[in-house]
Amino acid sequence: MKKEHLIEKTARYIQQEFSHEGSGHDWWHIHRVWQLAQWIARREGANVFIVEMAALLHDLDDWKLSQPNEAKAWKWMEQLGIPPNDQQTIQQVIDQVSFKGAGVDTTPDSLEARVVQDADRLDAMGAIGIARTFAYGGHKNRLIYDPEEQPVLHDSFDAYQQSTGPTINHFYEKLLLLKDRINTATGQKLARQRHQFMEHYLEQFFREWNNHEQPLTL
Ligand code: ADP
Ligand code: NI
Repeated sequence: MKKEHLIEKTARYIQQEFSHEGSGHDWWHIHRVWQLAQWIARREGANVFIVEMAALLHDLDDWKLSQPNEAKAWKWMEQLGIPPNDQQTIQQVIDQVSFKGAGVDTTPDSLEARVVQDADRLDAMGAIGIARTFAYGGHKNRLIYDPEEQPVLHDSFDAYQQSTGPTINHFYEKLLLLKDRINTATGQKLARQRHQFMEHYLEQFFREWNNHEQPLTL
C-alpha cells in the first residue's frame, strides 16, 4: 500500500477510536498534533512518514487512556502490513513522546521522536492546553484548585502517575516546565507565546481567587 494510503487509513481508524474521548485526548487533539508534527518535520528535515504515523498513533496505548499491554499500535501496524523496520521505528517514537514527571528525563534520541514530542507538548500549552487540562481534571474528578495542596515536582514516573492533585497544580508540575524542554528550534518559537499566555492566565486566576480585582464600576 502507498504511504499516503497508510496514513489515510490510520487517520480514519484513529478518528473512530477517539471520537468520544472526553479527557482532552479526543480526535481533534490527535489531528492537531498530526498536522503540527508534519509541519515541524518538514522544517526540521525529519522523516515525514514516520512522524505522521507516530503522531496519529501516539495516544492509542497511553497509560492515561488505555489498559496496559494492549499494544493496539503494534496490532494496527501489523494489520496494515507496515515493514517490521518501520514498525519498530514508529513504536520507538511513540514510546518516547510522553511526559513522565518534572524530574524524569524524557529527551528523545531520534529527530522524529523530538518532532512528535514537540507537537504533543505544544498542544498541552497555550489556550488549548488550558482547555485540555481542565477537561482532564473534570474527567478524573479533580478539584480545580485547592490552596492547601502544594504542587509536587515528581522525580519518578510512578509518583507522577499516582498523583491526584488539583488541576491548577498540573501547570506547575508539567505545563510551565515544557517551554524549556522543547527540542526543535521551530517548536521553541511556537512555545514562547503559548507559555506567556498560560502565565497571564494564572495571574488572572489568582487575582480573582484572592479578590484583588478592582472593578471600575459596580
Ligand atoms: P503526555 O503523553 O505528555 O502526557 P498527552 O497527549 O497524553 O501528553 O496529554 C497530556 C495532557 O493531559 C496534559 O497536557 C493535560 O492537559 C492532561 N493531563 C494529564 N495529567 C493531568 C493532570 N494530572 N491534571 C490535569 N491534566 C492532566
Ligand atoms: Ni497526545
